[in-house]
Amino acid sequence: MCGEWNTLVEEVDRPLPAATADSAVPVALSEVPAAGSVPLTTEIPELDRVLGGGLVPGSVTLVGGEPGIGKSTLLLQVLAEMARAGRRCLLVSAEESPAQVRRRAERLGALIPGVWLVGETSLVGIQAAIAEVAPDVVVVDSIQTVWDGEIDSSPGSVGQVRGCAQILVALAKSGGPAIVLVGHVTKEGALAGPRVLEHMVDTVLSFEGDRHHALRLLRAVKHRFGPTGELGLFEMTGDGLTGVDDPAGLFLADRRSSVPGSVVFPAMEGYRPLLVEIQALVVPTNMPSPRRSVSGYDSGRLALLLAVLDQRVGISLADQEVYVSVVGGVRIADPGADLAVCMALASARTYRPIADDLVALGEVGLGGEVRQIAHTPRRLAEAARLGFTKAAAPPSSPKSDGISVRSVATLGEALERSLGPETSSPKLRVVGSTGH
Ligand SMILES: Nc1ncnc2c1ncn2[C@@H]1O[C@H](COP(=O)(O)OP(=O)(O)OP(=O)(O)O)[C@@H](O)[C@H]1O
Ligand SMILES: [Mg+2]
Repeated sequence: MCGEWNTLVEEVDRPLPAATADSAVPVALSEVPAAGSVPLTTEIPELDRVLGGGLVPGSVTLVGGEPGIGKSTLLLQVLAEMARAGRRCLLVSAEESPAQVRRRAERLGALIPGVWLVGETSLVGIQAAIAEVAPDVVVVDSIQTVWDGEIDSSPGSVGQVRGCAQILVALAKSGGPAIVLVGHVTKEGALAGPRVLEHMVDTVLSFEGDRHHALRLLRAVKHRFGPTGELGLFEMTGDGLTGVDDPAGLFLADRRSSVPGSVVFPAMEGYRPLLVEIQALVVPTNMPSPRRSVSGYDSGRLALLLAVLDQRVGISLADQEVYVSVVGGVRIADPGADLAVCMALASARTYRPIADDLVALGEVGLGGEVRQIAHTPRRLAEAARLGFTKAAAPPSSPKSDGISVRSVATLGEALERSLGPETSSPKLRVVGSTGH
């Protein structure tokens, strides 16, 4: 504002900067040559599925995951398979000693001559190794332990990790190999320290799972070369990770029939339908604030559904401990699971089992209404394929071949139509006691 201090800015006519010899020259977009880089298949179908074909030469991929989830295992297997297919592969082990890596390779059957190994944490050493081996693909395990003497901060710090990653990204972009960086993820799911890495790389993959279960899920969080919806499924075995083509058996294999509190939900993981069993257990208690425990499910969402059950259907669990578990180590954040969770809770509370061949899907509103969810036709088709014959679903759901859709407008209606006759509370039969 005029008349006030410090409001007058002197404007100087700056001359346009002259282009130097190495400045980039603008070109018409249509004249830019089409990128000739075809993705290199990783020879691991579940990974290729997530990457939309494979690793693009000159690209940088960040693989994040919690400690011990199997990142090093997966990437060693990738390198071994790619080496078998004739690619030159370099593993930079910045965390484990070469002897440790060798032991893992022996166990996985990955002792392949085409895989080069360097135990190195300094960036200069890594650059030298890349120059010497001239690989098609490099895995750096992990980026968090790499340091550069030129960068003025301590190893492991955000500055170091970002600086080193930047140099590796530049190296890949200048006609270098496809680089895969391993990054650790904290319990909350963020890349430990440098979230910044996610912006710098072309692809961010997240390797997830419950360490106590064999199932591992691989998904793309960010992908500059294709869609991010695909999901890769692996099973962790003593011989390493094996791809799971058809996950159906994995989730429902050990399901018991006619148990109150069990409902199957056709979940979607990316573009892939996955049928998972949701279990609820309720136990009477005198505690003033009874326990609510979830596994693979959100506790806030459970609290909301308990309130809806109480207020809209009259099923109160205020004097009960409540346990909800998604079987198989899967984590469900899809509101489409609401109906299945509510039905499992009501079934557990009333001892009235729900038919084994029924799936439930739908979001439950605060008014107790059941709402439409995304991808209903694909979910129903997968349920039908696996032998389910009935689906409790919102009224707007389309018809589907091979499965009869019971449209339920409210949670109350869903329970009325789906809860079977009451079974007695099972008592443990002590060995040696008489009767059955
Ligand atoms: N001998 C073995 N037999 C079966 N499974 C094993 C064996 N050794 C390790 N594993 C499995 O491999 C997992 C560790 O895998 P890996 O070292 O690839 O994980 P990571 O994600 O690289 O871990 P970190 O973050 O510590 O580097 C273990 O949690 C275990 O499930
Ligand atoms: Mg590791």
